[in-house]
Amino acid sequence: MENDSALVKFPARSEVPATATIDATRYDGLYLIDGEVRRWDGARDEVRSPVCYRAEDGSLERALVGHTAKLDEATARLCLDAAVRAWNHGRGEWPSARVADRLAAIAKFTDKMREQREDVVRLLQWEIAKTRKDAESEFDRTVQYIVDTIEAVKELDRTSSRFHLAEGFIGQIRRSPLGVVLCMGPFNYPLNETYTTLIPALIMGNPVISKLPRFGAMAHMPLLAAMAECFPRGAVNVVQGDGATVVGPMMTSGAVDVLAFIGTSRVANILTKQHPKPNRLRTVTGLEAKNPAVILPDADLDAAVRECVSGALSFNGQRCTAIKLIFAHRSVADAFVAKLSAAVDALKAGMPWEPGVALTPLPEPNKAATLSALVADAVAKGARVVNHGDRASETFYRPAVVYPVIPSMRLYHEEQFGPVVPVAVYDDEHEIDAFMRESNYGQQIALFGRDRARIAFLVDALVNQVSRINLNSQCRRGPDSFPFTGRKDSAEGTLSVTDALRQFSIRSVVACQANAENKELVQDIVASRSSAFLSTDFIL
Ligand code: G3H
Repeated sequence: MENDSALVKFPARSEVPATATIDATRYDGLYLIDGEVRRWDGARDEVRSPVCYRAEDGSLERALVGHTAKLDEATARLCLDAAVRAWNHGRGEWPSARVADRLAAIAKFTDKMREQREDVVRLLQWEIAKTRKDAESEFDRTVQYIVDTIEAVKELDRTSSRFHLAEGFIGQIRRSPLGVVLCMGPFNYPLNETYTTLIPALIMGNPVISKLPRFGAMAHMPLLAAMAECFPRGAVNVVQGDGATVVGPMMTSGAVDVLAFIGTSRVANILTKQHPKPNRLRTVTGLEAKNPAVILPDADLDAAVRECVSGALSFNGQRCTAIKLIFAHRSVADAFVAKLSAAVDALKAGMPWEPGVALTPLPEPNKAATLSALVADAVAKGARVVNHGDRASETFYRPAVVYPVIPSMRLYHEEQFGPVVPVAVYDDEHEIDAFMRESNYGQQIALFGRDRARIAFLVDALVNQVSRINLNSQCRRGPDSFPFTGRKDSAEGTLSVTDALRQFSIRSVVACQANAENKELVQDIVASRSSAFLSTDFIL
């Protein structure tokens, strides 16, 4: 890896525009337990930005954003106790509340959340160097997800308000909460991926503990006061700190009923194994992926390049859905790679607040060195960096296009989760099928081409190996009404606006024989509106 201080212009502190700055000291050390926003007096973690300040002598230092609480084990237990009390065997205020009351609380929270947009967007820019445009999009998409979730719950409630008659039985079937949910989101979408599990879990009546990711935790702080105001004590708890100290005791207690975890399969396995009663633990995970793109011989190369650049390098490739390996057919491989390299080299690098910027610094420590080691492994085995990439300046890494990548190279199998674009050559579609069969992952694939027969063959060969096939477009999660999941080590459970409601609930039924006495019993309960479950009330 080449070190090049002219690669990206890190600003002097005085050069940061006022429209991008934020004084985050008011958010230092905050956490939320048992309905109270508290400030932690104990040890704290420094939050250092991937954005560096350039000193007069040219030296670079990661900007200090603020401090997050490094909670201790005793506080983690207090948090768990608060959530367990809020659950109270399903009799707590939140799990037993009527759906209309829960929706009203979530709607109120959403209004208050909107008021915090600017602070959250600025913190996302500083904490993880997400561009202004992407940070705004993450916030707005999250708000829209909540709005859509509220509508989906209303629809579910309308369906559940009916009684079913079958084989001489009357039954009312509703989805009920599962218990204490521990949500852990990732650093790349710290708000969106946390809320796409936290909100459905909460709205279905489960008390939630949100353990924030190491990078992207501060962006949650502006929302804690609204959570405390809108939800009953213990219904939502937000904590940070070292995973082993905070999450370990929660899992080993056996009191966590659902683990919603977006991150690596390695950590997911550690956490689930800590639970003493594995049969009681439901897990919803989003893990690694190695999504390929396939460039068929008749693909529109310019269009494929546009989609592959965006698919591989949006947010510097730090997306689980990113394209992480491209298979180009031998007949077009050289032409495709030439266009791809030029397009990657044309991407503008800079600070998150600069207009038109596509590449920004990376939050993970030593990430440039990690990526460069993957590239070096490929180069040692015969590949080349064919663009002006694999150059770093402190936290910034210029994307490398690596070609041709072959199975003995780490880049062929390992998830790089960063700005490296490996390209392999293939001759026959069966090689793509074989790659997916042997891969540990099975999230998505993107196919570029026009040949009906080849595409039909690949769709049928691959549809039972991945969870989404994208035709002439990059891999992605959205629209959020579409199922988002994966096979093998890529995911467990399915998320979408409607699927997530199912993941965080279980169907319960009240049933009786349809005789006159039972009908009268049920009708009396419904008419007196004395039960939240046995009820024909619904929300329009
Ligand atoms: O990192 C995984 C994200 O859920 C991907 O979402 O495809 O919309 O960027 P996206």
